[in-house]
Amino acid sequence: MMKICMVGTGYVGLVTGACFADMGNEVWCVDVDEVKITNLKAAILPIYEPGLKELVERNLKEGRLRFTTEIKLGIEDALLCFITVGTPPCEDGSADLSYIFSAAQAIGQCMNHYLIVVTKSTVPVGTTEKVRDIIRQELKVSAREHVGFDVVSNPEFLKEGAAVEDFMRPDRVVIGTENIGTAELMKQLYKPFVRNQNPILIMDTKSAEMTKYAANVMLAARISFMNEIAQLCDIVGGDITNIRTGIAADHRIGRQFLYAGAGYGGSCFPKDVKELINLGYKNGLEMAIATAVHEVNERQKHYLVDMIRKRFGEKLDGMRFGVWGLAFKPQTDDMREAPSLVIVQSLINMGAKIVAFDPQAIKEAQQVFEDYADHIQYVGDMMEAVNDADALILITDWRQFRQPDFSDMKSRMRQLVLFDGRNQYDFEQIEKYGFEYYCIGRNYRGK
Ligand code: UDX
Repeated sequence: MMKICMVGTGYVGLVTGACFADMGNEVWCVDVDEVKITNLKAAILPIYEPGLKELVERNLKEGRLRFTTEIKLGIEDALLCFITVGTPPCEDGSADLSYIFSAAQAIGQCMNHYLIVVTKSTVPVGTTEKVRDIIRQELKVSAREHVGFDVVSNPEFLKEGAAVEDFMRPDRVVIGTENIGTAELMKQLYKPFVRNQNPILIMDTKSAEMTKYAANVMLAARISFMNEIAQLCDIVGGDITNIRTGIAADHRIGRQFLYAGAGYGGSCFPKDVKELINLGYKNGLEMAIATAVHEVNERQKHYLVDMIRKRFGEKLDGMRFGVWGLAFKPQTDDMREAPSLVIVQSLINMGAKIVAFDPQAIKEAQQVFEDYADHIQYVGDMMEAVNDADALILITDWRQFRQPDFSDMKSRMRQLVLFDGRNQYDFEQIEKYGFEYYCIGRNYRGK
């Protein structure tokens, strides 16, 4: 059992804190947001994540997980202190590290015993060393230089929608430290989580920091590559779903993250790709691949809109579009950088009215589309979204959209036009009910 403090109770901090607690550790989760902390004490979560609520409830009840706004209280008895605050993108694409640095300052100001400070947020190469400098400086200012500490980089690899599962059964754990003792302690902490001989990898802090960027940008590159091939198929022929299975069978390539679609979104891929480009730029190196990954994705988010424009023209006044799925991917209510932002806004700007359904993200969507409120209607049932619609647009691949009642849809829609941004349907199904069907990279020209 270890005593742990999480500084920053956002997505990563909350999942990590709850999972550590569930493994028997004593965890304090700290945040400056008083409302968030008051809610969490009553097990009211700020985000939706499968399995997380149960985990928080159980560990709160059993006293291993506690919440506070006071960092001093959080680190009083702790041996490990994780920095899990946000690193949002700045205007120029670089990561905003101000929350990281103020967390480091706050830790340095109230730490009075040996502490291992771990950066878990995704941070550019060199940040963990900066955290060390800040803490050292704070200790010096207050003449507490005798208080020892160490810093570690320990990037997270959680996927939203499967974060608890990913944390409980990680493919690997990356630990960046140059200190053998610290490495040993971190290994002890993570040992109960790694099974199936998945490794705990010890490396220097900079490699650990870079590993996170390299992993995310490579995954994003796979998606952009497939999206590019998909657009080419729509012109020259070929079906991207066949090509995907064809290349996935090569073990060197593998099966995952090869789905063409409406483009990637979320809080990580877009941000990390931009930060890597920025890091190169600041250091005089053009990151040509990362730049292309970003550009292809921006283009992809407009691909469905371009198809709609081609079919219905520039002016969509008086037309009604049903939308299925707003979140950046299934199993989350997160709208950050979601392709739906570009698609919905473009259609409204062309004069359309949107009737949208999402199983989890409606509340979030209402906030981000606040300025468009007069043009969007939200409905609580997927079938309601297609009533009187001139077309249905599927943007997020929630499982419940997989096998809709096509004959019911047929009786509700004004025109039977379906734009499928995630290649969810078979041509036979669609043709049986007489839908006009548009999808991504399958070179479908209808019957
Ligand atoms: C990602 C990484 O997977 C995770 O390891 C890292 O720690 C954080 O960033 P996340 O942002 O939660 O996780 O979502 P992910 O499941 O990776 O999906 C990202 C985006 O890519 C989504 O918009 C998704 O729809 C899209 N995607 C994914 C595709 O378009 N095609 C695919 O084949 C896979």
